[in-house]
Amino acid sequence: MKALVLQNDKSLEVIEQDIPQLNAQEVLVSIKASALNHRELWIAKGMYPGMQLPCILGADGAGIITKIGSEVEASFMDKEVIIYPAYDWGENEDAPKKSFRVLGMPDPGTMAEYIKVPISSIHAKPSYLSWEEAAALPVAYLTAWRALTKHGKLQKDQSILITGIGGGVAQAGLAFAKAMEAKVYVTSSSEDKIAQAKERGATAGVNYKDEEWHLQLKERSDGIDMVLDSSPSENLDNYFKFMKYGGKIVAYGSTGSRKTTINISKFFLRHIQFIGTAMGSPREFQAMLDFMELNNIKPSIDSSYDFLNIKEAFAALASGNQLGKIVIRH
Ligand SMILES: NC(=O)c1ccc[n+]([C@@H]2O[C@H](COP(=O)([O-])OP(=O)(O)OC[C@H]3O[C@@H](n4cnc5c(N)ncnc54)[C@H](OP(=O)(O)O)[C@@H]3O)[C@@H](O)[C@H]2O)c1
Repeated sequence: MKALVLQNDKSLEVIEQDIPQLNAQEVLVSIKASALNHRELWIAKGMYPGMQLPCILGADGAGIITKIGSEVEASFMDKEVIIYPAYDWGENEDAPKKSFRVLGMPDPGTMAEYIKVPISSIHAKPSYLSWEEAAALPVAYLTAWRALTKHGKLQKDQSILITGIGGGVAQAGLAFAKAMEAKVYVTSSSEDKIAQAKERGATAGVNYKDEEWHLQLKERSDGIDMVLDSSPSENLDNYFKFMKYGGKIVAYGSTGSRKTTINISKFFLRHIQFIGTAMGSPREFQAMLDFMELNNIKPSIDSSYDFLNIKEAFAALASGNQLGKIVIRH
């Protein structure tokens, strides 16, 4: 089978690999579409914890089950499925096990003709989604879902700020927050992306390249209950300008900076919660798929590429110009 492999020297090559052999409780999925996440860029730069190369990349994928292990029910054959994009969450909904890991390094990923996964990783593909839409969901939409529901506990009429609205998780957050009838504010480096977010229901947006963006947001909102944050500021004190007392900052990324400082007195006197999150459990994944189907939510796709042009897709992600997910057709 053809697979996108990140080699030891960190070059990306589409090469021939053996089709994986199944264990008793595994299935073989013929991938119809996969999608990129910022994670693949971190891995390609060697900047991801636990680097182990060579490896087939890709966490997001959807396809058809073409072979089943000896202990898997025969009815799973030929099913159209979305793959839960990680291993080993465990039973605790508050946090995953230490052994939790995302598909596509160190385990083989979805950017290949086939992938084998445990039957427990399989979820039925909702029929209202195309292959490309189904493949766009797993990592980004699950991350936003857990951030808004488990951590942010976002309620109708509350105000949420979503930073860097061009990102895949941010777009998911916008769709979910609107379906929950929250009031959405966004930041972006692009006026076009702010305008497009408003067309999708955002109330207002500010440009994070402007040093005064925190004050502008304070003026335009009545105070923010929750921040869905891909890029916490180097100085979080600025957030106190627009956050309500008791507000929550739910951080899932570190795009701008890996370090931040905070005035701890303001932090506790305002009862602010600063919460970290990453992906979500298999139960949350199914709950999210159910919520999306009920509300007819389709993922926002920036562009799609044929598998053989996958390197162009990586360049598009690295450019940062995207609005939503970059998808690969297999
Ligand atoms: N914790 C998790 O489970 C998890 C899951 C997925 C992603 N992540 C992390 O979350 C981040 C976003 O991932 P993604 O895949 O959604 O992103 P993406 O699709 O690659 O989009 C990145 C977006 O980040 C925004 N951005 C860039 N610099 C920024 C800054 N200084 N301040 C605010 N926003 C900035 C840009 O938004 P504009 O174009 O609007 O300016 C850009 O479109 C990455 O760091 C990724 O590693 C974490």
